Amino acid sequence: MSDLIQGIDVCIAGTGSHVPEHILTNDELAMRVDTSDEWIVTRTGIRERRIAAEGEHTSHMATKAARIALEQAGIEAGEIDLIIVATITPDTLTPATACYVQQALGAHGAVAFDISAACSGFLYAMKISKRLISDGAFNNALIIGAEKLSAFVNWEDRATCVLFGDGAGAAVLRKAEPGEGSIIATEMGTDGRLTHLLSIPGGGSACPITIDNAAERHATLAMLGKEVFKHAVTRMKEAAERVIERAGLTPGDIACVIPHQANLRIIDAIADRLDMPNERVFVNLHKYGNTSAAAVAIALDEAARSGAFKRGDHIVLVVFGAGLTWAAAAIRW
Ligand code: UT7
Repeated sequence: MSDLIQGIDVCIAGTGSHVPEHILTNDELAMRVDTSDEWIVTRTGIRERRIAAEGEHTSHMATKAARIALEQAGIEAGEIDLIIVATITPDTLTPATACYVQQALGAHGAVAFDISAACSGFLYAMKISKRLISDGAFNNALIIGAEKLSAFVNWEDRATCVLFGDGAGAAVLRKAEPGEGSIIATEMGTDGRLTHLLSIPGGGSACPITIDNAAERHATLAMLGKEVFKHAVTRMKEAAERVIERAGLTPGDIACVIPHQANLRIIDAIADRLDMPNERVFVNLHKYGNTSAAAVAIALDEAARSGAFKRGDHIVLVVFGAGLTWAAAAIRW
């Protein structure tokens, strides 16, 4: 799905991110399961990840990231019209994590809900809120990608436990003033024929966790990594190309590509296929691992604050995740 109607321009007025204090290194993981720092770094690029404390929920990380984004945007909590939290690790199945964030921020005038699109959720939220603002339904939106994946990892499965981490990233979107940047083109897609490649099979209504099945750990991430890898490279490359083309740009015009942070080999493969030099591709997965919906949001915030691009530059965000889902956005900053 792409942009067919162009309404009012929408810009990103502020970004923020928050990761838990506790660092879990590859060497520490190697003491729990049969793995090594060398395997994890070579196969994924990940060196460490952050793990939320026991009472630290997805909504807590989301709220901290949101406060930073709101401050940068110069928008008070009471002025927020819309809050969307993208997460697959909500505080509770219901109410939505966005409702807890609304409460914590005191954003009582906002409509708040969650979306579940795995690692693609933040860009799905961006497209939904961009459309709602450009249609005139809302003046602004707070979008957040937040995950506490450590609560849904099987810590005895070396194939998955080394990959994931916790954190949150946020952005404030609002109508752009003349001369400001804007979200120029967006793209999203889904292939429900491939649900079996990456899922948390238990804990929902299809497979509730009971006393009888609790030991089987159905409520943990299961992935056919090699298959997911192939689709990730193809879909992210295509999605990035589409938004670049639809924005009337070429890869040479893009100052920075911010991809989903799952695996450095996937990122390198996409950069190669887009003919994008490595120095124009933002990477922070060595510090945080794969934080699903939070990953691209945290990366956007860190890239913007690190000076990876400046006002007026064109950037591309591109993501991929369970569903399978994928999305991209071309933005003039
Ligand atoms: O965020 C949503 C999108 N997710 C992704 O994009 C993830 C995509 N997939 C991947 O990133 C990679 O497929 C993985 C990092 C998950 C796995 O890398 P791989 O190169 O595809 O490895 P593999 O699964 O084919 O495993 C290769 C070998 C196997 O041993 P044998 O069968 O060759 O003897 C595994 O048992 O590596 C073994 N292995 C490990 N060894 C040490 C798997 N996990 C580990 C581990 N430590 N943690």
